[in-house]
Amino acid sequence: MSSNDQIKFAAECIRAGKLVAFPTETVYGLGANALDAMAVAKIFSIKERPSFDPLIVHVSDMDMILKLTIAYHDKVSLIADHFWPGPLTVILPKSVLVPDIVTAGMDTVGIRIPNHPVALSLIRESGCPIAAPSANKFGRVSPTEVRHVLKQLSNVECVLDGGRTSVGIESTIITLHEDGFEILRSGFITKEELLKVLPLSREDSKENILAPGMIKSHYSPSKPLYLDDGSRQLDIDRVGYIAFSRDPGIKYGRISYLSKSGNLKEAAVNLFATIHEMEDADIDYILVEKLPEEGVGIAVMDRLRKAEYKFL
Ligand code: TXA
Ligand code: MG
Repeated sequence: MSSNDQIKFAAECIRAGKLVAFPTETVYGLGANALDAMAVAKIFSIKERPSFDPLIVHVSDMDMILKLTIAYHDKVSLIADHFWPGPLTVILPKSVLVPDIVTAGMDTVGIRIPNHPVALSLIRESGCPIAAPSANKFGRVSPTEVRHVLKQLSNVECVLDGGRTSVGIESTIITLHEDGFEILRSGFITKEELLKVLPLSREDSKENILAPGMIKSHYSPSKPLYLDDGSRQLDIDRVGYIAFSRDPGIKYGRISYLSKSGNLKEAAVNLFATIHEMEDADIDYILVEKLPEEGVGIAVMDRLRKAEYKFL
């Protein structure tokens, strides 16, 4: 875990317009002062991220949210009571304080209060909101440990270590309407959990209009990844198999389990770390067992389909 001195140094970096990679409970983020357009521009350049893909702003309290947004504050308080700090991002109409580069020119901003002591201390010490995408090259596998960050982004000025992240996949993203919420990206917080607090105003968005960064190919490993539909003819010695909970009954070159007890939340926690492990292992293909598409399984399968997309 990072020390107070390291966090103070990182906060100085943020205030000076530099980038800091830091842990959140979901994945590691690559952060900059969200109010400093020049600093935010560096995120897009280091990540090789297209400018049409907006960033999530990380804050430590409701006061910051009230300054950065201009509507739905009653619903946001309700959400804060139930889910924050936590893995939920809410898209809200933005105030003039938020630079256009953060939101890809849109009039809305994605905001969340992360549930990680290092992230919260960093935001408080910096005294500003922190814009941060996941700390990986655009389109690649998200980092859940510091070494995953360093694998892809070796030239970041400051990196804070917070151990392995506890949630393992990115936040759920919702947008608000007068009559309730709509899910733009599935994540660790499920639709069922959200429904206990707010009504669903429309079914999950299948389009990219509201969530411009959500393209079909994402989370791609450095070697081909396929969902196992039983039809692929691959040299089994060269296959790294990612099983949900049970032995696949075939002698693949390497086998890893997402959750031996068959728990979908545990599978989500281990997903990206296991894909990173297969990237680094002496195998040529990654084959992944399909998970049940219920609860957090929906978010896991969404990540796996996007990871597979470019290899089909
Ligand atoms: O858990 C997470 O959400 C992590 C940690 C670091 O907080 N962050 C993360 O950021 O996953 P990123 O950049 O990899 O994904 C953010 C996505 C964008 O691709 C975009 O689809 C959506 O959030 N987004 C951000 N602002 C938006 C807005 N104003 N309207 C619609 N979608 C937005
Ligand atoms: Mg990402």
